[in-house]
Amino acid sequence: MQSIESEFVFALCNPGSEKALKLEVETTSLGWRLSYQRRGFVTFKGDAPFTLDSPTPELALARRYCLSLGKSTTREEAEARLTMASRIQHARFFERKLQGIPSSGSPTLGEAVGTVVELGPHEFWSGLHRHSHRLSPDPAGDSGITMPEESPSRAWLKLEEAARFFGLEFKPGEIVVEVGCAPGGVVLALLRRGVSVVGVDPARMADIVLKAAIENRQQAPTDRPWFFHSRKPAALASKRDLGHGVGWFMSDMNQSPDVVLKECARFCRMCPDIRGVLITLKLTDLTQITEKAKWFAALAAIGFTDIRLQQLAVHHKELALLATRD
Ligand SMILES: C[S@@+](CC[C@H](N)C(=O)[O-])C[C@H]1O[C@@H](n2cnc3c(N)ncnc32)[C@H](O)[C@@H]1O
Repeated sequence: MQSIESEFVFALCNPGSEKALKLEVETTSLGWRLSYQRRGFVTFKGDAPFTLDSPTPELALARRYCLSLGKSTTREEAEARLTMASRIQHARFFERKLQGIPSSGSPTLGEAVGTVVELGPHEFWSGLHRHSHRLSPDPAGDSGITMPEESPSRAWLKLEEAARFFGLEFKPGEIVVEVGCAPGGVVLALLRRGVSVVGVDPARMADIVLKAAIENRQQAPTDRPWFFHSRKPAALASKRDLGHGVGWFMSDMNQSPDVVLKECARFCRMCPDIRGVLITLKLTDLTQITEKAKWFAALAAIGFTDIRLQQLAVHHKELALLATRD
């Protein structure tokens, strides 16, 4: 494959996250300068030309990050710039969102993927990236998954979007502990994947989730996914509530990142089999992105080696923090 270079890269983000994305780039000391910006779309210029295989910084606020191949006035012209791509995905700014346009199939690891972004009637941008581990397979990092009507909360969508973005697999029979589980959107999504859940939250659960409820954690069935409600604040949950075999820690508590990470460390001490963590970090302001290194250090201190932070298409002032052990 011929090599290709550009002085520019572009990032696609949630409209409203542009300022925080620029701050993240600044604090990552990449030496990039802002070049051009629209809602959900930010271009940067580097000190030296970028190539498709330049090291890719992990920018939490960028749902998609591409080598920029420039602007065109028509879609056809924008597609024609992407001769190196083995597939082309499309995105557009529409109804105040940066939307991916659904396409069939998913890229394979290492595949060169083109993106055409339509920002206005005569403004199309062409970008190229290489698909890799923990990158969304979907156009503009937008899965387009829709929530079932019976879900008790939007948290269903956040779990499914995170699973799709990061390529997470949950095995039937696995056990997840979720702190901040009420009313139960995440629990419903997990139960439908065949996963059992210990939920910790003083608030009431929705009836649809209570259908799978068990009264006694110590006598959990082995022939069906179940839900055990430990109806108390996370800080009061004990080893007895959690039992044996918990493999994932999840949190959707509306508490500060510091509180959630402290509880995460405590739960991981109580359940040494925890192999993965998925936290929805609730921020008061996206400029808290400057604390990213501190959050990563807290997870590394627990023993996690693969750590990712990502704003998903369904998030507002939230970020998904994923950590797994090799
Ligand atoms: C956004 S809601 C969670 C939505 C839920 N994950 C779902 O799937 O429907 C936040 C929840 O965090 C809970 N919460 C807040 N502080 C908590 C704490 N210290 N311990 C446990 N739960 C807490 C609240 O009671 C509330 O139900």
